[in-house]
Amino acid sequence: MDRRELVRSVRNLATRQGLRAARSAWRGRRTDAWGLPARGGERARVPGPVAGAEPLPGGGVVRFDRSELRICVVTGGAVFWGWDGAGPGPSYAVPGAPPGPDPRAELEPDKDGGWRVVSERVTVEVSRNGAVEIRTPGGVVLRRDLPPRWWEPLRGGPARWMQRTEVPADARFFGLGGRASGPRLRDGTYRLWNTDPKGSFGPGDDPLYITMPAQLVVADAGTHLAFHDNSWEGRVTLREGEEGNGSGHDRPGTSELRMEGGPLRCWVIVGTPARVLARWSRLTGPAAVPPSWALGPQHARWGFGSEEEVRRVVAGYRERGLPLSAVHLDIDHFDAHQVFTVDRERFPDLPGLAKDLRADGVRLVSIVDPAVKADPGNTVYAAGRRAGAFVRDGRGREVRGEVWPGECAYPDFTDPGVRRWWGELYGERLAQGFSGVWHDMNEPVSFAPFGDMTLPRSARHALEGRGGDHREAHNVYALAMARAGFQGLRRLRPDERPFLFSRSGWAGMQRYGGTWSGDVSTGWPGLRASLALALGLGLCGVPYSGPDVGGFDGSPSPELYLRWFQLGAYLPLFRTHAAIGAGRREPWEFGPAVLEHARAALAARERLLPYWVTLAHLARLTGAPYVRPVWWSAPRDRGLRDCEDAFLLGDALLVAPVLEPGGVRRSVRLPRGRWYDTATGEAYDGPGRVTVAAPLSRVPVLARGGSVIPVRGADGGLELEVWAPVAGRKGGGLVVPDSGDGWARPEVERYTSRVVDGRVVVRRVRGERSGPARRRVRVRGLDEQG
Ligand code: NOJ
Repeated sequence: MDRRELVRSVRNLATRQGLRAARSAWRGRRTDAWGLPARGGERARVPGPVAGAEPLPGGGVVRFDRSELRICVVTGGAVFWGWDGAGPGPSYAVPGAPPGPDPRAELEPDKDGGWRVVSERVTVEVSRNGAVEIRTPGGVVLRRDLPPRWWEPLRGGPARWMQRTEVPADARFFGLGGRASGPRLRDGTYRLWNTDPKGSFGPGDDPLYITMPAQLVVADAGTHLAFHDNSWEGRVTLREGEEGNGSGHDRPGTSELRMEGGPLRCWVIVGTPARVLARWSRLTGPAAVPPSWALGPQHARWGFGSEEEVRRVVAGYRERGLPLSAVHLDIDHFDAHQVFTVDRERFPDLPGLAKDLRADGVRLVSIVDPAVKADPGNTVYAAGRRAGAFVRDGRGREVRGEVWPGECAYPDFTDPGVRRWWGELYGERLAQGFSGVWHDMNEPVSFAPFGDMTLPRSARHALEGRGGDHREAHNVYALAMARAGFQGLRRLRPDERPFLFSRSGWAGMQRYGGTWSGDVSTGWPGLRASLALALGLGLCGVPYSGPDVGGFDGSPSPELYLRWFQLGAYLPLFRTHAAIGAGRREPWEFGPAVLEHARAALAARERLLPYWVTLAHLARLTGAPYVRPVWWSAPRDRGLRDCEDAFLLGDALLVAPVLEPGGVRRSVRLPRGRWYDTATGEAYDGPGRVTVAAPLSRVPVLARGGSVIPVRGADGGLELEVWAPVAGRKGGGLVVPDSGDGWARPEVERYTSRVVDGRVVVRRVRGERSGPARRRVRVRGLDEQG
């Protein structure tokens, strides 16, 4: 426990809730002392020497003296391998049947006594002692997993294991879920255990709410993603390599994964970043497309306190002509903080409020916490208890924790029946007039002044009928809750796409919705962490996220608030939010200048809404996150690989937010090609660094030459903004027109742009043919062509 934590826990203990939390933490410890006996002695094991092999479709099984390794290259080129008989299922990340084996991939002996599987896109080399190398078809090594080591308890129980991996010396690591210090993951140890960091967090805090054993490795030799499909607690220690400057003495980068149990199995996907994410999304499921209104500006607050205050804030936006698409109600609108209830004194007529707001184009979104107050008078609890919905310990007693409403029970979302029951409860939210849900506290949290703030590790879970305990269920708890909520909403309102975002989650959570930063601390480091999280999560396949604009706690300076607002306007979830007791977050609370600049950011967001809709559909169709690192299309450009203060929004825009106080100009590293400052029209040619103006009124946004961007025209209709391509070069873009908030199949329009006789010509491509664009086109940047 560090000092900060100690001070916090002493302060917390002094409250009644603090005392109850301490009691609950002790109870949890006792539960584990009984339910999880000490491991005792252990026996270490390695695979030993190779003993034989058996070919199977897509690869085969390589046998070693003390283990066996199954390898399968599947159609599309992903590689699966699993030790000790581990197969791809069952898995929370990879739902349903994984892709079938690639019939052309064959297991064959190599000349060193090992085995290899050769396929079109990748070669897997297995050494005599069980190292697994992933190579490009040209033979360049992307990843070398050394023989694993297991520690098996002599008295039985799950084996711990460790695996060390080498990657090229120039490689950079990304991913592992939502990491505040990213997006580039520097040397250090990253824990795999979804965690509420207690209070607000900054770049130094790890882990946070979403952890995933999925790492993206980007090197000159190629990009790959490795996913160890295992939900147990673990630790990843990363160390970037060092190049020997041509001396031949490169020190490879290393990644060491230690898991407390669970299968040792891995998916590896090789290719360009776009291909890798496409296959990752095929494997773990396509991202839910938020309804279009969820791409607009949103306002949340813990502590609105009353219906009048909500109306006052919404009126504040309307009176100033500021767009607002949704208001989020936090736990203070519940009756005594109990989920699926309403405080009728402060919110006497929620459906009426929802109706009035809706008439103004504003939706209501509700927080939903998993913990249910364990009080027989609470109808949700009584029903859940009757249904046997709550997590129990090894002795069959309901596991209790301490959360906002007091002593709580926790639904076991790893039980399909419980998911169905829980999903039906969302009917109450819909009847209250809510249009979307915001899942919180689902790591899951049980307040504790010491140790992990969660359920005892020995708590029992259904795990889809297999049975197991919290050590395995913890990291997938929120994912399973999201599944319950998403499917419940879908059943209740079959014609509308659900809007759901969740604080915690795991690989595959994008199938049900997005996430947000959680309690990011108010300060310039928190602003930087906000961007790191959105980029890192996107690379893990979770494309929809965004921060609490202005930070969760305290009061941002006007400048910090503005810069956060400007960043938020270019992230998928654009939402202000703050803790109870924190300062105001309405754009007009920071003086007239900030209000005008915030108005400009809102207008820019509104104008780009058709582009946001396009990006949301493309994320589902292609796996590409809306917000991407600048190296997305040039992973071999090392300068870009290390750039963490700018990002691409789709293919067309490069956003360079201001992340430091006092900045009114900033340097931007450009990828290859022509780029236009969208505010001044000035043209720059990349690759290279340029300095651009970043006055308080805006952050630099650059458009790629040739890009075709759908924007909202002055009359509200869709217009194509086309940035002149370099003469002799072709540009283009995809447009997915808004087809409403239902399930209509999106139509993808493809455009090309070219300069012909000094004019920009835009054409729509259909199959082999192309024709006129048939949409309003506005050309920009032509004058600067020279
Ligand atoms: C923690 C969440 O992260 C935060 O956004 C929310 O306001 C509080 N819980 C209260 O519900």
